[in-house]
Amino acid sequence: MSDFGVYVHVPFCRHRCDYCAFATFTDRDELMARYVDAVCRDIRAARQDGMPVADTVFFGGGTPTRLAPELLVSILDEIPRASGAEVTVECNPDDVSEAMFRIFVEHGVNRISFGVQSMQAHVLASLGRTHDPDNVRRGVEAARRVGLSSFNLDVIYGAHGETVDDWVRTVRDVIELDPPHVSAYGLTVEGGTPLAERPEQHPDDDVQAEMYEVVDDLLVGVGLANYEVSNWARPGHESRHNRMYWAQGDYRGFGSAAHSHEAGRRWWNVRTPDRYVELVTSGQSPQSADETLDDETRRIEGLQLALRTRDGVAVESFSASDLDVLEGLVAVVDGRAVLTRRGRLMANEVSMRLR
Ligand SMILES: C[S@@+](CC[C@H](N)C(=O)[O-])C[C@H]1O[C@@H](n2cnc3c(N)ncnc32)[C@H](O)[C@@H]1O
Ligand code: SF4
Repeated sequence: MSDFGVYVHVPFCRHRCDYCAFATFTDRDELMARYVDAVCRDIRAARQDGMPVADTVFFGGGTPTRLAPELLVSILDEIPRASGAEVTVECNPDDVSEAMFRIFVEHGVNRISFGVQSMQAHVLASLGRTHDPDNVRRGVEAARRVGLSSFNLDVIYGAHGETVDDWVRTVRDVIELDPPHVSAYGLTVEGGTPLAERPEQHPDDDVQAEMYEVVDDLLVGVGLANYEVSNWARPGHESRHNRMYWAQGDYRGFGSAAHSHEAGRRWWNVRTPDRYVELVTSGQSPQSADETLDDETRRIEGLQLALRTRDGVAVESFSASDLDVLEGLVAVVDGRAVLTRRGRLMANEVSMRLR
């Protein structure tokens, strides 16, 4: 049995990044208190409906640290948790303080994910991010002081104007903070974002591939093992919540635009916080739509997700002739077909051959 997860979406940001397509808003802060009340009410209703206790809880966004910490933990207090549950909060380095982290810890938060993106001021500016790299250092120190020793640093590579040297400097600065977990994502161009309108700023595939190799070399060199295409961790610091997603586990999402999954049925909530508050406070379901995957689609999705992890898939998931074609991209280790580093760069293409 995989873990049961709870995701809480916090749809507020100070400023909208040009590359981001997430369901988040910069002009609705006045809704925060009512939004939190609605999420709490929604969780209580799910509890009455027999929602299991959570093994993992993840506050994501948007920017969870836009909420006053007291408001954020009032949501956490409503979520029944198994002992030893992993509880993560995504944090903007500009918002955090030791006082905020203390409140988090008192209520059961035990993992922080910092949105670092880059440690180079000009790259941050190009991404449209406002924080000062020194705030990342201060944030990490504050987390350590209150005992939040398990944390993730989220970085992005491939911003316009970022050279491979800039990226090396960012990864080195990240390593200096001795993080137990790093997520590094290639900047992707999402439809409908301001970045999509500016082709001259789109990342170059070859440069991004080189950056991927750089980050993998440097992180593996200091003992952070790659355990999913974009994730590296010291043993024991892998994200249980993400592993639950990759194992197609069951989870409940609360808040606007949050997704839920149970045994092949997926559903998601209305996209705006206004509508979410309106529906929940009037006793209605905030669900927008749902879909049920047929067994075959679900099986293939499961293989695609597993292939991206270091455990790979059973070797029979590829035909013998495809395994030949995929030489150099897929290695067979103890009866499992596992992506090589070159294969990780082409995970989507390799996935097309799963059977
Ligand atoms: C949606 S954000 C939420 C946390 C916080 N607001 C932040 O930006 O750090 C989670 C992660 O997704 C990343 N992200 C958002 N859009 C992206 C894109 N187009 N390509 C790559 N990463 C992206 C962000 O940089 C961030 O690290
Ligand atoms: S990347 Fe993060 S901070 Fe930027 S708009 Fe998206 S959710 Fe907000």
